[in-house]
Amino acid sequence: MRKFSVVIAGGGSTFTPGIVMMLLDNSERFPLKSLRLYDNDAERQATLGAALEILLKEQAPVVEFIYTTDPEIAFTDTDFCMAHIRVGKYAMREQDEKIPLKYGVIGQETCGPGGLAYGMRSITGMLEIIDYMEQYAPDAWMLNYSNPAAIVAEACRVLRPDSKVLNICDMPVGTLRRMSQIVGKQPKDLDVRYFGLNHFGWWTSVKDKEGHEYINQIRDYVAEHGYLTQVEVDTQHMDESWQATHKKAKDILAVDDRYLPNTYLKYYLFPDDEVAHSSCTYTRANEVMDGREKTVFDAARRIVETGTAVDSGFHIDSHASFIVDLARAIAFNTHERMVMIVENNGAIANFPDDAMVEVPCIVGSDGPEALAQGKIPMFHQALMHQQVTVEKLAVEAYVEGSYQKLWQALTMSKTIPSAKVAKELLDDLIEANKDFWPELK
Ligand code: NAD
Ligand code: G6P
Ligand code: MN
Repeated sequence: MRKFSVVIAGGGSTFTPGIVMMLLDNSERFPLKSLRLYDNDAERQATLGAALEILLKEQAPVVEFIYTTDPEIAFTDTDFCMAHIRVGKYAMREQDEKIPLKYGVIGQETCGPGGLAYGMRSITGMLEIIDYMEQYAPDAWMLNYSNPAAIVAEACRVLRPDSKVLNICDMPVGTLRRMSQIVGKQPKDLDVRYFGLNHFGWWTSVKDKEGHEYINQIRDYVAEHGYLTQVEVDTQHMDESWQATHKKAKDILAVDDRYLPNTYLKYYLFPDDEVAHSSCTYTRANEVMDGREKTVFDAARRIVETGTAVDSGFHIDSHASFIVDLARAIAFNTHERMVMIVENNGAIANFPDDAMVEVPCIVGSDGPEALAQGKIPMFHQALMHQQVTVEKLAVEAYVEGSYQKLWQALTMSKTIPSAKVAKELLDDLIEANKDFWPELK
């Protein structure tokens, strides 16, 4: 079987070991020739790189492994770039979350003002790695997890329309795992219909391969428990704050119980509840730094100290299943059905063609082909229209260096109460992001 060369961009990410473990676990379905880590923070990446070097020597000695900050070494002749960079790292995520809270506005990684601030940083980093990939591996695909995926995807559509970049999100597949537990099936036994934007969508159907529809059964469960499940088999979305998020789906569903909601809708439909339950001094960024980041980097240091990865503390991460399945779908033309972020072009009939939407697609060697989801109701359409406009304005603001367009984007966001608050927030965000954003005039 053909073997593949993979580069992980954002090699110092907390998710890197989980993806590597998943790749090794899938080595028969997706054989590796080489695996490289690339990051622009040598020190952060070296901690994970040194540990993974030991792990690979023990578990997969035939795979050529390196970690580097040199893009030429990293990208040359690679088949896939799995990207998960965080421009500004956790220090800036903390700012994204804490600055809005000063104004009584939700502080979140990808939604509202925090997401816009992160988007304005991410575009530059994403363009940089896309250009490296195209320079050193013109045939490669980039499978990109880097957030905020909605804004990154719109920026790719506008600025790199011909690049082989697929922007993806693990939330639809993560929630499907919970749905599959609710109905006693495996996620792969279920096909969904879904429409929306990234972190802003709804399931309209969940069927097994025989065509049995489970949406009513799942709806009854979610109306009572949200997506909180009894069986806790996941490695992701398990912290206390995530449990609250799964539970909150119950309230989102009550607003419109036709469809099953993406949990991220809580930031748009219940921002007041969210703010009331947030701490201005300890946000999700702090929870991750004290939790996942510490656990992963402590495990890496332990491997290096002991010189072995046996009982290492690195685990196969369920977050990685989607990206590995996607790589396989492209490599082997599997035509797997996956929820992806793509240009609408009629997939949602009554929504603009040039909107980046999240819908089920059939994925093969040429990438995703969207499945038609038909017309959507006015309520969902209007919400999506408002949000997609925010995302488009942000990308226009980036491209044109326009202060006014970013102010409009913030003003348009359902999470922000007025143009006045939007402007105050924008001025604070500009100051905090001065090392990262383009200059706005
Ligand atoms: P992290 O901060 O631990 O890792 C990100 C790494 O990217 C860091 O090591 C950093 O040095 C590196 N980096 C930053 N800018 C770079 C650049 N220009 N070039 C190369 N490397 C660069 O973050 P994390 O929590 O592990 O998350 C990583 C990313 O994955 C984030 O963007 C996060 O939002 C995203 N993510 C997305 C999904 C999804 O569903 N789309 C799911 C999980 C995580
Ligand atoms: C989900 C989302 C991602 C997001 C992540 C944040 O998986 O789909 O887009 O990055 O959650 O998780 P964290 O644990 O970093 O708060
Ligand atoms: Mn996501």
